Amino acid sequence: MRKLSIAIDGPAGAGKSSVSKILAGRLHYAYLDTGAMYRAVTYEVLTRKVEGEESIISMTEKLDMEVQPGEAGMEVFVDGKNVTPFIRTPEVSSKVSAVSAIGGVRKAMVAIQRKQAEKGGIVLDGRDIGTTVLPKADVKIFLTASVHTRALRRFREITEGHPEMTMEEVEKEISRRDYLDSHREISPLRKAEDAILLDNGDLTLESTAEAIISICEKKFPGFDR
Ligand code: CDP
Ligand code: CDP
Repeated sequence: MRKLSIAIDGPAGAGKSSVSKILAGRLHYAYLDTGAMYRAVTYEVLTRKVEGEESIISMTEKLDMEVQPGEAGMEVFVDGKNVTPFIRTPEVSSKVSAVSAIGGVRKAMVAIQRKQAEKGGIVLDGRDIGTTVLPKADVKIFLTASVHTRALRRFREITEGHPEMTMEEVEKEISRRDYLDSHREISPLRKAEDAILLDNGDLTLESTAEAIISICEKKFPGFDR
């Protein structure tokens, strides 16, 4: 048996990155957080004050982006600098959907993601993994939970660093991003037809990871890990 490629898509706060990290650890697979890549591009757009689609695409195509495992999961390096500590700010979160809707930006990121995934033995999380990046992924999961549950999870995280945000604001921001991500023209957030829908509103991270491993076992008994 060979090592699998596992696609985990879903909306913000569904638990994709936390669950993917646990899964990758359990299976001894690589992990690729594709959202971190779009966030890194957005961070560069903001810090370099790049405006207009053409300029953003040309900046993105020239970026030397590397992703590698680090202490806190996956780390993103741009032109040799570790940008991971700067990509989850409210500023980046509010701009990332607009930047990631640009076709040329997606084309550049998808090329890197496919290259990373070509040998299998990897868990990728994002919005378009099952539909576009790896339409032939061995296992596809669409992970979700109610917007309220997802906002509450994010609120707990965010308030540690930015106590000025209210739960209402976090829920509004998450809903806005979900709307933009699922209504963009290119590779919108949606469940692939052959993806398994998993609502983890009442599940812990551990039991969600367990449920996904059971799905893999059922489809590929005795798969390599
Ligand atoms: O962790 P969170 O759900 O907040 O978002 P993320 O996974 O870090 O992704 C940030 C943003 O990147 C999303 O809201 C999408 O706009 C974009 N994204 C995308 O377009 N395609 C992906 N495969 C992953 C993320
Ligand atoms: O990557 P995504 O935006 O889908 O979600 P995440 O960043 O992995 O999870 C958002 C927050 O919800 C994290 O603090 C997780 O620990 C928490 N979470 C949870 O407590 N239980 C779950 N079943 C899923 C997520």
